[in-house]
Amino acid sequence: MRYRKPTSSRATKRHPIAEALPTPRHASEVTAASTESVDVYLVRPSAGLADAALQWLDDADRSRLERMTHPRARASFLLGRWLVRGVLGAALDTAPAALRFVDNRWGRPELDRQRHPTLSDVRFNLSHTAGLGALVVTRGREVGIDVEHTERQSKTVAIADRFFATSEVAELRALPSHAVQRDRFFDYWTLKESYIKARGMGLAIPLGAFSFDLTGPTPVVTTAPSLHDHSSWRFQLWTPGPAHRAALCIEMLADPAPVRVRWCEEAEPSACLHGERADSEPHA
Ligand SMILES: CC(C)(COP(=O)(O)OP(=O)(O)OC[C@H]1O[C@@H](n2cnc3c(N)ncnc32)[C@H](O)[C@@H]1OP(=O)(O)O)[C@@H](O)C(=O)NCCC(=O)NCCS
Repeated sequence: MRYRKPTSSRATKRHPIAEALPTPRHASEVTAASTESVDVYLVRPSAGLADAALQWLDDADRSRLERMTHPRARASFLLGRWLVRGVLGAALDTAPAALRFVDNRWGRPELDRQRHPTLSDVRFNLSHTAGLGALVVTRGREVGIDVEHTERQSKTVAIADRFFATSEVAELRALPSHAVQRDRFFDYWTLKESYIKARGMGLAIPLGAFSFDLTGPTPVVTTAPSLHDHSSWRFQLWTPGPAHRAALCIEMLADPAPVRVRWCEEAEPSACLHGERADSEPHA
């Protein structure tokens, strides 16, 4: 089985914070090198994608879907299946329904190494929200992705007060208006989610045990010793559309893998691999 890398030369616009790639902070701890790219696929839900995904569900997927009563939850779940079976399968030259997954102890789906021994270094992560799904795929390094719908009604500073690190709350509270605070809140939220997903531990990691500094050219994370995090990470933050924010967390190895972001515009998953590079406007 072959891992095909998409080809395109168009530059992607990124959030200014995400523009520069820092060098590894702990070069002595870098033990492996990878020349693989980090490929991100973005897609909006449609009936065609949901119908395609329905054909590929295994028993566990089907019973999860049956328990979902809300149409939006079902659409979001099927969008995730389309990405994680259709697009991941296309990237790995494997039929969607033939992919086998196992969950790690915190619930992160990973490829079943027994069933896919030649793909044991493949890493992927999925995120889906109202109106948008995102999949990141690479080899040899941990990755996490999060997309959020930023226009829904939700508390922001109150959530931050309760869950974020003290320095993050202070930075948020110092911002001049509710609108600016809300915008920055989603930066933190997606970055924090992308980190806990890259670690594979989800909310088993307390959200206050690590903090982001967003004052420099790229987001920088600081973790509490209790997290036993001996890796280095780089982050990208962008706005894939007016109603969404996205963040990507990539383990830093000796080779800073290039990130390619693509929109999937067609129902055929393999078309994603060669799709247009995403233009995502930087936000203020
Ligand atoms: C499990 C968790 C990672 C899910 O996050 P989410 O924002 O609700 O959902 P996303 O769409 O981004 O991600 C869901 C996908 O992540 C993957 N996932 C599940 N557990 C995971 C884990 N431990 N690590 C990494 N990825 C995981 C799965 O592929 C899942 O897709 P599926 O539900 O269709 O199978 C976890 O962070 C969570 O429950 N978050 C709740 C939201 C919250 O309170 N966030 C606070 C942010 S400040």
